[in-house]
Amino acid sequence: MSGQHYFLTLGFALSLWLNCVDATVTNTPHLNGPIFPVVPQSVPGAKRSAGEFVHPGLWHTHSNLETIRNNVLNGVDPWKSAYEQFSIDSYSQANYTMRGPAAVLSRGAISNYTSFTSDVRAAYQNALMWYITKDQAHWNRSTTILDAWGSGLVDIIGTDASLLVGLEGDMFANAAEIMRWEGGWVESGSKWQGGSGFSIQLYWLFARQSVINGQANYGMVSIKALLSFAVYLDDVTMYNYALYLMYNDLCAGIYGNYDSATAQPLEAGRDQGHVQSGLSWTANAAKVIQNQGSGDLFRFDNNLLLRAAEYTAKFNLNNTVSYNPKIYRCEAVLVDGPWPVISTANQGIKLPVWDIIYYEYVVKRGLNAPYTTQAKAAYGFEGSLPNNDGYTSWGDLIWATSRGYFLRSF
Ligand SMILES: *[C@@H]1O[C@H](CO)[C@@H](O)[C@H](O)[C@H]1NC(C)=O
Ligand SMILES: *[C@@H]1O[C@H](CO)[C@@H](O)[C@H](O)[C@H]1NC(C)=O
Ligand SMILES: *[C@@H]1O[C@H](CO)[C@@H](O)[C@H](O)[C@H]1NC(C)=O
Ligand SMILES: *[C@@H]1O[C@H](CO)[C@@H](O)[C@H](O)[C@H]1NC(C)=O
Repeated sequence: MSGQHYFLTLGFALSLWLNCVDATVTNTPHLNGPIFPVVPQSVPGAKRSAGEFVHPGLWHTHSNLETIRNNVLNGVDPWKSAYEQFSIDSYSQANYTMRGPAAVLSRGAISNYTSFTSDVRAAYQNALMWYITKDQAHWNRSTTILDAWGSGLVDIIGTDASLLVGLEGDMFANAAEIMRWEGGWVESGSKWQGGSGFSIQLYWLFARQSVINGQANYGMVSIKALLSFAVYLDDVTMYNYALYLMYNDLCAGIYGNYDSATAQPLEAGRDQGHVQSGLSWTANAAKVIQNQGSGDLFRFDNNLLLRAAEYTAKFNLNNTVSYNPKIYRCEAVLVDGPWPVISTANQGIKLPVWDIIYYEYVVKRGLNAPYTTQAKAAYGFEGSLPNNDGYTSWGDLIWATSRGYFLRSF
């Protein structure tokens, strides 16, 4: 009886409290948290000075771009066939019509950022088109989009601002990195006093809002983007911090996403879409780390990323995998977890995340990855995307590689 009384009292008190505190979370404070300096010796692959950065060196180095271009021009597959489709995609056209810029974008309860998504993709694909063709019209299209948004976008709001920043923002930085270091583009506007311009925006709106928040795949978006932003900005502290998070943030880094022993993705009980997108974000980070000569996240912990890809591909190809319900992400309670069984929500091979993993492990390193290989085949050509939110796609063009041993140790 007293127990029931307690409950009623508690329930009454709770309802009173709820009546008083009825605010809902509609926005986050601007996420300009501090970047604490990390001692370089504590982070494998850390930089010690700005001059150590490799440019271009986000997703594509000079040598990667040369591989793409030479194989397209020489008619070598898979580059040649991929380029045939890439070059006719609407986002690859020099006459692509820019949809922005907009002053304020929101992602969250209000989402109105598709003009940016489209223009970012056009800036990135035109940057690649310019590199391959050296046609000035592509140079113009890519850089005019970079300058227009670089000067015109002044705020990003909404609870998921960091996702917008980490997905579209990262691709935008990749376009800028190619045009800056290969195309000789000098951005308009930036001054040390502030104001406008691509790198001002990159620092304040993108990088400072990627200082870590979120868990699992969501947190990985911020880490992978922060790596890219730091390289573009030659920001040693930011780069080392992002690298530190990758290996030490147990909610968002590599171990915030994958179990070391079993490679079970920590969101396997949530749904298969987030698991698969997380593979892509982690692989993008691994590319930047590799291109910076900062070690080998692909090989880290006995090829943990490949083991996670195999687990994921196996299950999404309708095979049974072992699932441990004690292995789950931080703050699973936010997304209806922890989960007693593996989730079949969004099960299937429906996202363009396989090429980057396939080429890196199976082709370049010659490793056996039967399920990843089947997943690549099941998805088919990673091409034009109806909803292109953050995925590079076009792996047969941009991630393809020849067989070769990878010698750097970590
Ligand atoms: C854009 O250029 C492509 C070829 O590069 C051409 O086929 C298309 O008609 C052009 N579109 C417009 C709107 O001019
Ligand atoms: C998006 O929504 C926000 C919040 O309502 C608004 O301030 C902003 O102007 C909108 N941007 C676009 C491009 O519609
Ligand atoms: C590129 O832009 C410049 C400056 O606006 C212009 O003079 C030039 O004709 C453009 N070139 C092409 C090929 O569109
Ligand atoms: C997995 O099963 C679903 C549902 O039966 C089916 O639609 C899908 O094609 C299967 N996938 C593969 C790769 O066999």
